[in-house]
Amino acid sequence: MNTPDGSRPTPTAPAPPSQSTTPFDPDLVGAMANAMFGEAFAPPARGATPAQGLSAPPVAASGGMPGPSSAPGAGAFPAPAPPFAAPPSAPAMPSAAAPFAAPPGSNPIAVMPPPSPAAGPSRPAAAPEGSDRSSFYWMPAEGPPGRCATGGDLSTAFASSAVQGIPRLDAPAEAEASRATEGRGLGFPLPMTPSSIGDLLLAGAFPSPPPTAVPPGASAAPSYFGSGASAAPYFLQGTASPTAPAAPAASSGAFDVHAVRKDFPALQQTVHGRPLVWLDNAATTQKPRQVIDAIVRFYERDNSNIHRAAHELARRATDAYENARDIVRRFLGAGSAEEIVFARGTTEAINLVAQTWGRQSVRAGDEILLTTLEHHANIVPWQMLARETGAVLKVVPITDRGEVVLEEYARLLGPKTRLAGFPQVSNALGTILPVREMAAMAHRHGARVLVDGAQSVPHLRAGVQDVDADFFVFSGHKVYGPTGIGALYAKKELLGTMPPWQGGGSMIRTVTFEQTTYSDPPAKFEAGTPNIGDAVGLGAAIEYVERIGIDQIAAHEQALLEYATERMKEVPGLRMIGTAPEKASVLSFVLEGARVEDVGRHLDAEGIAVRAGHHCAMPTMQRYGLTGTVRPSLGLYNTKEDVDALVTALHRYRHV
Ligand SMILES: Cc1ncc(COP(=O)(O)O)c(C=O)c1O
Repeated sequence: MNTPDGSRPTPTAPAPPSQSTTPFDPDLVGAMANAMFGEAFAPPARGATPAQGLSAPPVAASGGMPGPSSAPGAGAFPAPAPPFAAPPSAPAMPSAAAPFAAPPGSNPIAVMPPPSPAAGPSRPAAAPEGSDRSSFYWMPAEGPPGRCATGGDLSTAFASSAVQGIPRLDAPAEAEASRATEGRGLGFPLPMTPSSIGDLLLAGAFPSPPPTAVPPGASAAPSYFGSGASAAPYFLQGTASPTAPAAPAASSGAFDVHAVRKDFPALQQTVHGRPLVWLDNAATTQKPRQVIDAIVRFYERDNSNIHRAAHELARRATDAYENARDIVRRFLGAGSAEEIVFARGTTEAINLVAQTWGRQSVRAGDEILLTTLEHHANIVPWQMLARETGAVLKVVPITDRGEVVLEEYARLLGPKTRLAGFPQVSNALGTILPVREMAAMAHRHGARVLVDGAQSVPHLRAGVQDVDADFFVFSGHKVYGPTGIGALYAKKELLGTMPPWQGGGSMIRTVTFEQTTYSDPPAKFEAGTPNIGDAVGLGAAIEYVERIGIDQIAAHEQALLEYATERMKEVPGLRMIGTAPEKASVLSFVLEGARVEDVGRHLDAEGIAVRAGHHCAMPTMQRYGLTGTVRPSLGLYNTKEDVDALVTALHRYRHV
């Protein structure tokens, strides 16, 4: 968005905080509450069901998981709800209730339509268009027409002083709130405190909408808290959930890369006066609007610490976090969400394995077998372990084309091999390794297998059970998710016997100064407050990929890789590094007589982002007698036009 003077606001200059235009006024609130809630609006008994006094909550026609949208860029925030206007059939509200219209910018969840006389005393109340659907709405079973209330997400409702007519129950206002509502009720016993509201929520005093149908591909994981009226996890409760992103533009049929591109705000910019051509996907991917929105939505509505507190936001955040774990499980083809440990990314996940399983299982003289294709993240942690334990690192060579020499791999495996580690796809060359075969070979020697999936998950099916990996690791940011989140998959029987890594909160069952007992996995390996918001973002990213379909993505990228490989042959003096027949995404090359950094800088000046250097794979570079390569790498949103721009820019570089 441009500023009035036409300049673009800088990302580092956030808008100043807005000033509240509707300061909380307890007297006004009290007067309005008197007008709004009559004696007949009886508090329900604790644990009341809808039949006992509360109507069933709405399943609004537009509620539920957002349906697939073919609109490009779908997934933007819903437009702010317009102030609610009573339908023509509604009886006139008492004048004091006029502030039912939510002021601009307010949360409309407390604004309810009065019932139409024909509707009967108890009926589902439809949430106003665009309102927050995580809230519960009901009409009193009895009560004068026009009287209505809101419940459910009460902490949000009451914390918002902009929601007029509803007392605020935060600590300073609690006394006024009780006074204002005494004897009239908001549908639950007085005195009300935030904790009693939390109790009521968890006891199911407020009805949850029945679970909406789970769309194909969506998770049906149980709620973390999982019982009573709240059994439906919040992400299935008709909410525009952070884990239920709008469908990507391409989900409606054939893969349309131009429609997909519209989901990625970062791709819409110019760099150095040229349209950005993002060919640095092996380093990190751009994020679709659906992922960005999921993260924003999480922080705007659901932010809470997880697993401990007994309140609505904790429940939502916990559900969202655990739902993301289940999405990762599904994405990797794992059997159980208990086999998924969230980590900062691939690097942290490998360190976790080396420092827990490795310290426990690797002894002096044992061998750790790696390949020449390793990223440093799958070298250094094992080197550190070897130094600590006296174990030995062994390395499988590669061919000139960049393939693992399987005969050498077979020869190097032996009874001393404790671990074989290899990437599913090489980050420096793009080689796809025969990981299933390699895992089977290692298992025949009793070795454990760690597959580095950092470069594979954006391009092909991981299939951890099919591969029979003991450990599988990946980073969210390489698969259209946020940085700072990734996961370790480990077979249940391994996780169960591995000692913890970091100690702290969340990973314990009991603590005394004498001794600590640990939680079961995966919590045992997730000490401290995890990266909840980015786990939610990762879930949204995976769902985005799943909705397009990993096979569609692979087909698109393979066609583009072949096209690019052919076109790049036209550039004089260009030599591809890594020419294995099975490749994904990566087009590493050197230009005769040119420094890779200079080529990278030249491409940048033309708006083309590539990586130039050793790609954290120095041993791979050394294999070719190089210190680095130029590495364009393809993602799902790249086009033939991107490749053409690259080739044209390389021709120009040759002629400069
Ligand atoms: C094959 C491979 N392994 C590991 C990593 C490290 O990933 P992260 O830096 O996200 O931990 C990368 C990153 O480029 C990679 O390509």
